[in-house]
Amino acid sequence: MKGVILAAGKGSRLYPVTRIIPKPILPIANRLTIEYAFDRLKEMGIADICVVVGENEGQMREALDDGSAFGVHLTYVKQEDPKGLAHAVGFAKDFVGEDSFVLYLGDAVYSEGFADHAKRFLDSGCANLNIVKEVEDPSRFGVANVEGDRIVRLEEKPKNPQSNLAMAGMYFFSPKIWRVLPDLQPSARGEYEITDAIQTLINEGETVLAGVYGGVWFDTGTLDSYLETSAFQIKGATIVDPSASVKGTLGANVVVGEGATLECESIEDSVILPGANVKVKGNIRHAILGGPVSSDGDIQSEILHGDYLG
Ligand code: G1P
Repeated sequence: MKGVILAAGKGSRLYPVTRIIPKPILPIANRLTIEYAFDRLKEMGIADICVVVGENEGQMREALDDGSAFGVHLTYVKQEDPKGLAHAVGFAKDFVGEDSFVLYLGDAVYSEGFADHAKRFLDSGCANLNIVKEVEDPSRFGVANVEGDRIVRLEEKPKNPQSNLAMAGMYFFSPKIWRVLPDLQPSARGEYEITDAIQTLINEGETVLAGVYGGVWFDTGTLDSYLETSAFQIKGATIVDPSASVKGTLGANVVVGEGATLECESIEDSVILPGANVKVKGNIRHAILGGPVSSDGDIQSEILHGDYLG
């Protein structure tokens, strides 16, 4: 099997930080977000990985190069225009060839591996197996309606979900997926949806399985979920890179990145990005700060990057 990581998104829910650092290479516990994806793929014996990049191509190539520093071999393809997940995966067709592959959303972080699901996918010979997870608010996701272990119907962001099983951003595909992509139509939100591609496989009588994920799944794309992922990875501790300088009281769940300087009264539940220069007279709570950031008061629940002027 090969791996395909979709990493072309703009990360707009984390602006302005992601205008400076693309989301897939934003650090989580001083590792790049995409390194967690490499871990999960490598556990399944997958080192040959295609990264679908977008406008972030230059920065992605610079940070990851050929992947050898991370124990993987990377190929890059560029999605010129972001038109949805099914559009993005199409760019990986030549890379994948006749192989099966794992499709992985670049902003997802998972606490546990998928080796059992990979085995089940390969043993079954099915067209597609999707990782699903019970969630409280399925209407924010693609939702899988399941009979036994088969998915019988999928809906993207339904107003009235008929199931609480969300599509959790991790998909195993046989090459049959390539057959259905050319005929897809854009959805109501104007995107070529991976859920619609999978629904077409189901409609054509292919076996599409659900694999219920037992671990914790994080979508790192918002301030809350990014900080939650960070807190999970560092387990409530504080990580200060040896090259960083800190003046102020350090509380729980704090990461201060390489080369950063930080002055504040106190800091808790926050990430100071590599190279940041932060001077805050008050307290920092629940924030992501990068570049030069200064404030006379407190900083609370903010995403700030002082280099961003737009
Ligand atoms: C995408 C998929 C959706 C899936 C979600 C997982 O949604 O379309 O089916 O449940 O990822 O994060 P998007 O993030 O594009 O809104």
